[in-house]
Amino acid sequence: MSKTPEKQPGDPKTTGHVWDGIQEFDNPMPRWWLWTFYATIIWGVIYTIAYPAWPLVNSATAGVLGWSTRADVATEIAAVEEANAPINDRLASVELTAIAADAELNSYAVSSGSAVFKTWCAQCHGSGAAGAKGYPNLLDDSWLWGGDMEAIHFTITHGIRNEDSDEAHYSEMPAFGRDELLSSEEIDQVVNYVMSLSGDPQDAGAVEAGSVVYADNCAACHAEDGTGDREQGAPNLADALWLYGGDYDTLVDTVSNSRFGVMPAWNTRLTEAQIRAVSAYVHQLGGGE
Ligand code: HEC
Ligand code: HEC
Repeated sequence: MSKTPEKQPGDPKTTGHVWDGIQEFDNPMPRWWLWTFYATIIWGVIYTIAYPAWPLVNSATAGVLGWSTRADVATEIAAVEEANAPINDRLASVELTAIAADAELNSYAVSSGSAVFKTWCAQCHGSGAAGAKGYPNLLDDSWLWGGDMEAIHFTITHGIRNEDSDEAHYSEMPAFGRDELLSSEEIDQVVNYVMSLSGDPQDAGAVEAGSVVYADNCAACHAEDGTGDREQGAPNLADALWLYGGDYDTLVDTVSNSRFGVMPAWNTRLTEAQIRAVSAYVHQLGGGE
């Protein structure tokens, strides 16, 4: 153990702490450091007064400058909307068929329509619009209710079998099994006939009897040749494209219990310009007529 050296006059002040002979000087902080430190404290106080800072129960102090990210976003959105107002007005007022002919309007409609689709339609029709069981593929040229610009626009505006719009497309296929309109033998026969329209039936021996059941019960909606009827949204049964499925079991289920695909009306949720934009987007996906 070394001895603490004797204190000499003129030695720096110490705090009095000693450990193993090491003493702690009691020098003052450098001026510049101290003033910077005070400045940050003052800055911090001013900042929390000026800007939203102190948490309260459900919110936070607003800050005297009234700044908020929410208000910033709202102003930015308003600015974009204002900038787009002329082209949205044009989109909402021209003839539907004129949109595609106007290159500038069309490219605006398709790109903003793509954003509308991703927000409002992708949940049901898929982000790439390829659909899913019961939700039609919008990429192909098989249309339930029609694939020209006017038909697509009408379908999107009013929707299908919903309660939102009096003008919604409506039709109802009977539940032939559940409501005992056909026996299970007749259902087996007509299903085999339907399978024969686009491929191989499960039981070739039932097809002929099935064609009679079909003519009596189905042709009024799906047409004599099975190509469907857009007036009633009755699918084409002869094109090997299926909304619900073309295997034997699914077909028996469809004919026995029927289907009732519902799409909401969009005129209650979207502006006319947005509906037209998403119509143009769907129309140019590949199947547009
Ligand atoms: C809640 C699910 C749902 C949402 C969301 C939805 N749809 Fe549909 N859509 C359907 C169903 C189900 C059908 C088919 C109804 C039927 O069986 O006739 C359909 C049919 C359609 C058709 C008709 C296809 C044809 O072959 O005639 C178009 C076009 C369409 N939807 C576009 C859209 C657009 C655009 C949006 C977004 C603005 C959208 N849908 C949002 C469920 C939905
Ligand atoms: C009143 C008109 C009507 C009659 C009659 C009718 N259908 Fe339909 N059918 C429809 C409609 C409308 C749909 C589409 C339902 C939907 O989209 O939800 C449909 C759908 C179908 C489908 C599903 C097709 C697919 O792509 O998945 C099959 C299969 C079918 N019908 C077969 C028949 C058969 C077989 C009969 C006769 C026994 C029949 N339908 C009678 C209107 C009718």
